[in-house]
Amino acid sequence: MKGILLAGGSGTRLHPMTLAASKQLLPVYDKPMVYYPLSTLMLAEIRDILVISTPEDLPQFRRLLGTGERFGVQFSYAEQPRPEGIAQAFLIGRDWIGGEACALVLGDNLVHGDHLSALLRAAATRPEGATVFAYQVRDPERYGVVSFDQSGRPAEIVEKPAAPLSNWAVTGVYFYDRQVSDIARQIRPSARGELEITELNQIYLEAGVLHVERLSRGCAWLDAGTPDSLLQAATFVQTIQSRTGMLVGCPEEVAFRKGYIDAATLRDQARAMGKTELGRVLMELAEGEHA
Ligand code: DAU
Repeated sequence: MKGILLAGGSGTRLHPMTLAASKQLLPVYDKPMVYYPLSTLMLAEIRDILVISTPEDLPQFRRLLGTGERFGVQFSYAEQPRPEGIAQAFLIGRDWIGGEACALVLGDNLVHGDHLSALLRAAATRPEGATVFAYQVRDPERYGVVSFDQSGRPAEIVEKPAAPLSNWAVTGVYFYDRQVSDIARQIRPSARGELEITELNQIYLEAGVLHVERLSRGCAWLDAGTPDSLLQAATFVQTIQSRTGMLVGCPEEVAFRKGYIDAATLRDQARAMGKTELGRVLMELAEGEHA
């Protein structure tokens, strides 16, 4: 399976921070925001990754991420000239996808928690249909919202409903089968002029092949699109890391644990981080001091 990391948009809810910098390159505690969704794709064992961003910001992503060799993955890059909707990623990436199954993660979404790796791997290997992840929130009207029928099957997905039928928000981590590029072509712009990812999910739902994985309390899902959520995400990462000594959303760590890179490569990465705490933890990992 391939994976798209979508990191465009104008980040207007973070102005003036995003007037001259891409939102997805802003720091979330000790790493650039995009490292978190990148780690999610890597945990799903997806290593062929297309990074999509604006023409202005794409060079910065190339500078940060490079070929992917140091993470044991392969990056390709594509521009989204205007923010015309999340589902447009599958039109921009159509040739690159080449009729394969493809996942999509939003560049401002952080997921972390128990059993998540297994859930992600299961979604990536499901041969038919699509998988999305739902998470209970207090303010569902800000998101795509999925409601369920009495037997627990997904009934409907609505984008930012004024009167949500449930408090299950659809997170920005999506897995689709090989039909995805063709199905994305059927979507027409919504009232706000965007090719909505919710529309794509609704098509899979109506075909009876949308799998909705409800994330439990043991998981955290955060998006970092506003000053408050950005601060919350940073505090979350800082709290978990300083309490446990384990890292959240660190692609170098995922690469090493998955065997995509060896200890020597990890040591080089750790050295390149200088005297940072992150560098110290990665060096210990390379030396075998962490189980
Ligand atoms: O975070 C999950 C939510 O993401 C879902 O629950 C919603 O169904 C989905 O529509 C989306 O809602 P947002 O209001 O967060 O969408 P936003 O326009 O902020 O875009 C999400 C990210 O995708 C953001 O980092 C910018 C990027 N993006 C967005 C659009 C519309 C692009 O790169 N290109 C685009 O054209």
